[in-house]
Amino acid sequence: MEVIKDVQEMRRWSISFRQNKGSVGFVPTMGFLHEGHLSLMKAARERCDALVVSIFVNPTQFGPNEDLSQYPRDLERDLTLTRGVAADIVFFPDASQMYPPGFQTYVQVEELSQGLCGADRPTHFRGVATVVAKLFNQVLPDQAFFGEKDYQQLAVIKRMAKDLDMSVEVIGCPIVREPDGLAMSSRNVYLTTQGRKAALCLNRSIRKAQELVRSGNRQSSQILREVIKIIENEPLLQLIYAEIRHPDSLESLEQIVPRGVLLLAARVEKTRLIDNGYLPE
Ligand code: PAJ
Repeated sequence: MEVIKDVQEMRRWSISFRQNKGSVGFVPTMGFLHEGHLSLMKAARERCDALVVSIFVNPTQFGPNEDLSQYPRDLERDLTLTRGVAADIVFFPDASQMYPPGFQTYVQVEELSQGLCGADRPTHFRGVATVVAKLFNQVLPDQAFFGEKDYQQLAVIKRMAKDLDMSVEVIGCPIVREPDGLAMSSRNVYLTTQGRKAALCLNRSIRKAQELVRSGNRQSSQILREVIKIIENEPLLQLIYAEIRHPDSLESLEQIVPRGVLLLAARVEKTRLIDNGYLPE
């Protein structure tokens, strides 16, 4: 496994690999890796001839009062984990090379970036789309792998790749959870034991919603009422949103359609957590 820091060197490596050896699979991350990230790497490893993982804590996707400076980092541990899944390249660019003085071009996926996480993080998806577009141009992947954990992000990136005719296939992979059901996230390290326990009600409310749909309830408003009740019963949790949306367009649904998604965000002791789940057909 090789660590590449320079953007031009990354691009040269990919051009050469694609010409001589085969397909490049790409997993962009912000590091502090866990099993969720590793599942994307394993999927890429299976489908592509080479695996490139990027680690870059992208400043443009953090709002002014968010956790950019505290975001957890552990490069040595990350390198051990990427070695463990036989990554070929870890791309670890410098913020000053990604955003040099004079940088002023951003990618805005208009509608999909609004609402849900875009409502309380108004510049977040512009930062995500911009950095992912840059990373695609630097890594030149055939396929790129993203988690459904960040459901709106996946929809934004799929749309961006399509709208801008990018020659990369964007592939979504299922959420990986802790044994107790908490969706894995680098931010889970911020939680106290109590907070972590409280956070479990996100997954619990998703399972309750799935159960209601399975037993014949198709009304989003009724299902959301039950979901909100569970979350509001947990004093350590502050609900940010609970919505049922179409799986591709992310349009609000009054009536559940096949693969409708329940999307949740809540604050637990200052940590913003998200989770989601498909509703049964
Ligand atoms: P990060 O939060 O590090 O996540 C990197 C990738 O791992 C994303 O595609 C995310 O959806 C996926 N992921 C995180 N937790 C997961 C889980 N529990 N199960 C499955 N997949 C999971 O998302 C970002 O970084 C950034 O926004 C990035 C795309 C790298 C752009 O900066």
